[in-house]
Amino acid sequence: MTVPSFYLTTPIYYANARPHIGSAYTTIACDAIARYKRMCGYDVAFLTGSDEHGEKLRRAAEEAGVPVERFVAEKRELFKELWRTLGIGDYRFVHTSQNLDHVRSVQWMIERAQEAGYIEKKKYEGRYCIFDERYVAEGTAPATCDICGRPAELVAEDNYFFKLSAFQDRLLGHYRDHPEFVQPGYRRNEVRSFVEAGLRDISISRRRLKWGIPWPGDPEQVVYVWYDALTSYLTGIGFRGAERSEDFKKYWPQPAGAASSTTNPHAEVVHMIGKDILRFHAVYWPAFLWAAGLPLPKTIFAHGWIYYEQEKMSKSKGNVVYPEPVVAAIDELAGAKVGNDALRYYLLRDVVFGQDGNFSRDGLLTRYNADLANGLGNLSSRVLTMVSNSRGGAVPRPAPAEAPRRLFELSSKPHLIAVRQSYERFEFSDALTTIWGMLELVDKFLVEEKPWAATEAVGDQERLDQVLYAATESLRILAVLSHPVIPDATERIWQQLGQEGKLADQRIDQLEWGGLKPGTRVARPEPVFPRLDKKQAIERIENMEEEIRPPAPKEPVMPSEGKQPERAESSRLEAGATTPARISIDDFAKVDLRVGEVKTAERVAGTDRLMKLTVDIGSEVRQLVAGIAQNYTPEQLVGRKVVVVANLEPRKLRGVESNGMVVAATRPDGGPVLCAFTEEVPVGSRLK
Ligand code: MSP
Repeated sequence: MTVPSFYLTTPIYYANARPHIGSAYTTIACDAIARYKRMCGYDVAFLTGSDEHGEKLRRAAEEAGVPVERFVAEKRELFKELWRTLGIGDYRFVHTSQNLDHVRSVQWMIERAQEAGYIEKKKYEGRYCIFDERYVAEGTAPATCDICGRPAELVAEDNYFFKLSAFQDRLLGHYRDHPEFVQPGYRRNEVRSFVEAGLRDISISRRRLKWGIPWPGDPEQVVYVWYDALTSYLTGIGFRGAERSEDFKKYWPQPAGAASSTTNPHAEVVHMIGKDILRFHAVYWPAFLWAAGLPLPKTIFAHGWIYYEQEKMSKSKGNVVYPEPVVAAIDELAGAKVGNDALRYYLLRDVVFGQDGNFSRDGLLTRYNADLANGLGNLSSRVLTMVSNSRGGAVPRPAPAEAPRRLFELSSKPHLIAVRQSYERFEFSDALTTIWGMLELVDKFLVEEKPWAATEAVGDQERLDQVLYAATESLRILAVLSHPVIPDATERIWQQLGQEGKLADQRIDQLEWGGLKPGTRVARPEPVFPRLDKKQAIERIENMEEEIRPPAPKEPVMPSEGKQPERAESSRLEAGATTPARISIDDFAKVDLRVGEVKTAERVAGTDRLMKLTVDIGSEVRQLVAGIAQNYTPEQLVGRKVVVVANLEPRKLRGVESNGMVVAATRPDGGPVLCAFTEEVPVGSRLK
C-alpha cells in the first residue's frame, strides 16, 4: 500500500535580517502541521528556506560593506539557528543563491514558458518597488507601491514579459472548481476579485542587475526575484528542470501520463504563507506552473499577521519581538526546557489561525501559568503522584464493573474527532480549546470522585482503580493530542507514563480510549511546567531582548529618525552604518541641534541599554531616552552638557516617551561617546 504523501512549505524568508516572531510564526504553525500529519501516517516533506536574490538584498549587503554572497550566507544561518532553538523537526532547507540546482530549475521553467508562447520581450517603462520586489501598476496611487506604500523607482528597460492576462479565465475557473485552492474562504474572495478586475502582463526580468539568476540565453538580464523564489518550492524537493528526483515525483502531483513507480496520484501540496504575499502565490504561481506544463499545489493557505501590543512590529518603533529571548528566559527561570512549548502554545492558542493576532509578554505568561503550569503540568503531576502513592507506580486494571458515567464522557469519541478535524483545517486554536476542555473534564472528574478519600473497603478500592485508570489514560490521550503543538513537554509526559518508543511515532488518527496497558509502570512525577513569576519572567525576557538587539554601531544612540518605511529601515539597521548622500545647507538647517544640560538620569526598568533623561534645552526641559546606560552611570550624566536633536518627532521606547535625541559618536566596539564641549557654552545655544 502506498503511504500518502504530504508536502508542506513555509515561504522562503528574505535573508536580509534576523528573523523575528512574525517570521517564526509560519514556521511554528507548519511544524505543528507536519508533526500532526506524520502522526496520521503521512510521508511528510516539510520545506523552508531563504530567499537570497534581488535588489533589496544586494543593497543591504552593500550598505553592510559585506560581499553579498557572505551577507546572505550569514543571514541564512540565523534562520537555521532559530529553527534549532524552536525545535523545528525534520525539515528541508532550500536557498536560492549560489545553488546550481535551483538555477537549472528556474531556467527550465522560463524556457518552457517561452516555448509555450507565454513570454515576450518588450520595453518596460514604469515604477518598481525594490522592497516588495514588484512592478507597481499604473493607476495606483502615483509613484508608490500599493502593498507597502513606499516610493517606487522609475525603471525604463527592455524586459521579458509574462502573459499573465492569458490565464485570467483559467485562474477564475480553478478558484471556482477547487475551493480548497485558496484558504481561508475570505482570502479566496479577495483573490477572485483581484483577478476579475483584470490581469496585466508582468515583467519577469531585470536588466543590468547581477544578483539573480541569469536569463537563459540573455546574460544581460536576470530573472525576476519572485519567479526565482516561487520555483524554490520545486527545487526544494529535487526538481532540476528536465531531470527530476524520485522525491519530486512522490511529493508533487505529476502531469497526467507521467507514470512512475513512485508517482503518487494523491500527492498533497500545501503552501503556508502570510496574507501579504497571497497575490504572488494564488495568481502568479499557478500561472507560472501552467505555463511550464506542471500541475498545481492543492492549497495556498494565507494566515494573518502577528502584531506586538496591537502595533505592527518595526525596528524604528523598537518593538520587534525575537523568539530567542522568550524561549531562553522561560527555560532559565523554569529550570527546564519549556520556553519553546510555551511560545508555540501561546501563538497557536491565542491567535485564530488565518486572522491577525497579537503578541504580548503578559499574555504569553498568563497562558503559560494558567494552561500549561496549572493545567496540563498540574494534572500530570497529580495523576502520576496518585498512581505512585496508591498503586506503587503501576497503572491499575479497572474492574470490569460498569464504569462511572463521567468516565465515558472523558473517553468520548466526539472529542477526539473534533480535535482531529480542527487540526486538519489548521484551526489550532479550536483544537487546543477542545483539548483543554477535555483536561478540565478530567480535573472535574477527580474533584467529584475524590480518589484521595478512598477507604480500604473493597468497593472503594475498585472504584479507585477505575478512577486512577481513567485519569492516567486521559493524560496519555491529552499528551498525544497536544503533541503537535507542545512537542517537548508531551514527550516528557510520555516517558513519565512509562510508554515505549517516542510519542512522535504514535498514530493520532488511531488514538482510542483504552490504549494504556494496566500494569504499566509510571515514573515518579517531575514537574513538566514549573510555575513562573510573571513580572520576573517579563523582566528577564526584556533584558535578554536587549542583549540580542543589533549591536550599537548599527543603531543610532536614540533610534528615532522620523517615519521611515519599515522594511527599508529594517534592512538598513541590520546592514549597519552607511555613507549618507550629500545634503544641502538647507537640509542641514532643518535639524534643530541644541546645547542641553542633563537635569536627571535614571535607567529604564527592565532594560540594560536605555537611560531616561530630563534635559534643559533652554526653552524647556525635555524628557529623552538614550541607549547609553551600558556606558554611563546616572551620576556621570547629571549636570553634563550634551547636544540634543530637538525637533525629532516624539516616540516611545519601552513605553517611555522620548522627545528628541542625544548626539553621540560610536566607538569601534560599538559603545557611544557623548558629544561634549571643551569651552563654556550656554544651555539652549543652537549648533550650526
Ligand atoms: N521572500 C518572500 C517570500 C517568498 S516565498 C516564495 C517574503 N519573505 S519575508 O521574509 O518578507 O516574509 C516571509 C513570511 O513572513 C511571509 O509569509 C510574511 O507574511 C511573514 N511575516 C513577516 N512578518 C510577519 C508578522 N509580523 N506576522 C506574521 N507573519 C509575518 O515575503
